[in-house]
Amino acid sequence: MDVINYSLTRDKYDSMFLPRSKYSDLGKLNEVRIQDNAILVRFDGYDLRIQGTADGIIKFTWTDGPVMPVADPEFVKPAQDGQMYRIGNNTLSLESDGFSIMDGSGITMHREFFPVFAETITHSFEIHPGDMVAGLGERAAPLNISGHVFRLWNHDANGSYGPDSDPLYLNAPVILHGHAGKFTLLFYANAGDATVDAGYSNERRVSFSFRSKPLAYYIITGSLDSIYEKLSRITGKPYRPPYWAFEFQQSRYSYMNSREVRDLVDGFVSRGIPLGAVYLDIDYMDRFKMFTFDNQRFGDIGQLTEYMRERGVKLITIMEPSVKMEPGFELYDEGLRNGHFVRYPDGNVMYAPVWPEMAAFPDFTDANTREWYASKYDFMRSMGISGFWHDMNEPAIFVAWGDNTMPRSAVHSIGRHEEVHNLYGYYMDKAAYDHLSRIERPFILSRSGWAGISQYAWIWTGDTETSWKELKQNILTILHMSLSGITLTGCDIGGFTGSPTPELFIRWLQASLFFPLYRVHSDKKSKRREPWAFGDHEKEVIDVIRLRHSFVPHIYSEAVSSSESGVPILRPLFWVEPDNPVMMTVDDEYMIGDSMIIAPVVEEHAVARKITLPKGRWYNINDDRIVEGSFTMDVDLGTVPIFVREGSAILRENNGIELHLYPGSQMSRRVFYINNGNDDARVEIEFDGGNIAISPPKVPGIKSIIMHGFSGGDLLLNGETIKTGDGVINLML
Ligand code: GLC
Repeated sequence: MDVINYSLTRDKYDSMFLPRSKYSDLGKLNEVRIQDNAILVRFDGYDLRIQGTADGIIKFTWTDGPVMPVADPEFVKPAQDGQMYRIGNNTLSLESDGFSIMDGSGITMHREFFPVFAETITHSFEIHPGDMVAGLGERAAPLNISGHVFRLWNHDANGSYGPDSDPLYLNAPVILHGHAGKFTLLFYANAGDATVDAGYSNERRVSFSFRSKPLAYYIITGSLDSIYEKLSRITGKPYRPPYWAFEFQQSRYSYMNSREVRDLVDGFVSRGIPLGAVYLDIDYMDRFKMFTFDNQRFGDIGQLTEYMRERGVKLITIMEPSVKMEPGFELYDEGLRNGHFVRYPDGNVMYAPVWPEMAAFPDFTDANTREWYASKYDFMRSMGISGFWHDMNEPAIFVAWGDNTMPRSAVHSIGRHEEVHNLYGYYMDKAAYDHLSRIERPFILSRSGWAGISQYAWIWTGDTETSWKELKQNILTILHMSLSGITLTGCDIGGFTGSPTPELFIRWLQASLFFPLYRVHSDKKSKRREPWAFGDHEKEVIDVIRLRHSFVPHIYSEAVSSSESGVPILRPLFWVEPDNPVMMTVDDEYMIGDSMIIAPVVEEHAVARKITLPKGRWYNINDDRIVEGSFTMDVDLGTVPIFVREGSAILRENNGIELHLYPGSQMSRRVFYINNGNDDARVEIEFDGGNIAISPPKVPGIKSIIMHGFSGGDLLLNGETIKTGDGVINLML
């Protein structure tokens, strides 16, 4: 009944209150002049402002609209040069139908057309055959998205999805295009509904059609590293997460009571399997009421978390934006009394059905509401809960028909729902982050979000189906997030809906090996997925979890670097050889930082795997042999092909941290971070096959240095000769 009533009410309000948009025409161009740090271009209908930085960001502002969570970089004064304008290291030319942007060497990086203002606002730019086009947030799409149409509207995929499903839970108006090492990125500061025609109707064009204002976008040029550094200046840098969050995590919908969770933890401890955290899904709550625990099942929550703490395991609870409509339920009463809930345009509170049946929804776009809601996390922390899992925050609503979210006409503090929809989850994450980060580095895992979400939360790819094709797809979905500047990501290992064969599960654990989030999670109906549920294959499952555990210090170090630079942790292979078209076709391997490649086996019953490596010399991490180019490798179920670029330093956990050096022919310089509690030691190392200089000279936590590919002779460590044998050597510090 609730779902029918809600669907009717939503339709009624939307038909009464949604303005029919028709934007006035652009008209003709009247005047161009430089004023302060901007170029002003006056059309009959709109005044365009163009601003730019010294180093390759150009912002176009055609209209204003709801205020977006973005920060302008520092703009410089443009200079006129005939028909051209110089802005920092770029040149802009004004043409009869649009603009071109040239880089310092005069090469056209981007050509775009004047927007078309009608029922929607359409902005288009040119692409060329062979261009890479990627990004847009979370996409179940090929690596190159050209030839497809997408929607930017955060959406609950209704319990299960596979390749080609669109849209998904997180949309980001970020798109990368280019080829031959010349890339341009566009970021639209608009969180409303939009359609993106990426070379589908016209293979030479990408068009964004927005239903609501503003039309304001940033065009960013430069190397891939510098593009993402610049994007993070606008959308926010990834935060520095807690170390424990990178450990293996076990989840299920749902571990039903304290006993079950204790047994689970005991199962890991007794077998010596690394375990960082366990999750409680919705059944821990009292009738799905936020900030409550079911008394029967989790009445001893404090003792449970204490038991887990003694064993080094964290407990994470699911959190929902829905607040059960139940007079007498304090959270609901308070929210109502203080006006914290989203309303209809006539002032009535908007109620809609989700897990707790009819519920109200905090307006997280309002700073006071954020503070109010987030203060309740203190209670969860006092019960020993260490991390928070934000689900259903697209927001998802149960409907009988139509769109499974809030009414488009609903009102938020910063605008109508349809204008700011894609920010609902983002602001829920910000609420918790802002509050918790005053005390510690928070761990928030969120299903929804927007550009810049990595400054507050981690993202997982939601309710994926359990299939071989989805295993492969997942890698690309994660890479699209990286290419949108979203870096703390992961998936439900094994897929959400379904029961993987042991082979598929092991391959999934392997393929996700370097995803920042490493979590097994699955639906109620799925078979158990604890490592010991895999019978004869238990050992292979545990081996992969241990392998992951050994790389945690390295993944963590990459995450800290990413929080400093804004450059995503996981990258497609074309990142390091952007002018080689072959690299743009590699869609089943990925890089972690710029030093390691994983080419996971993602085909059923595979006995061999084709590997493609970017130029240069790579160590096969499994046997230290140097490999190059393209080749085929024999594989069995335990094989995880991982390659380390020569000149790299890799951190590995092995009862203390080992620093593995893979020397190249020249001196290499690397920087990494070692976590020591709440702080990180920044370590610099320079090395070749015979010399190592490390600073600071004594790094707490590092127990040994291992030199790979070492052929004997003298080895100098910070100037002192060390006695060594052949091959891999151990230097006890
Ligand atoms: C949603 C989530 C899933 C969770 C389930 C129950 O489908 O995506 O991870 O287990 O809700 O809370």
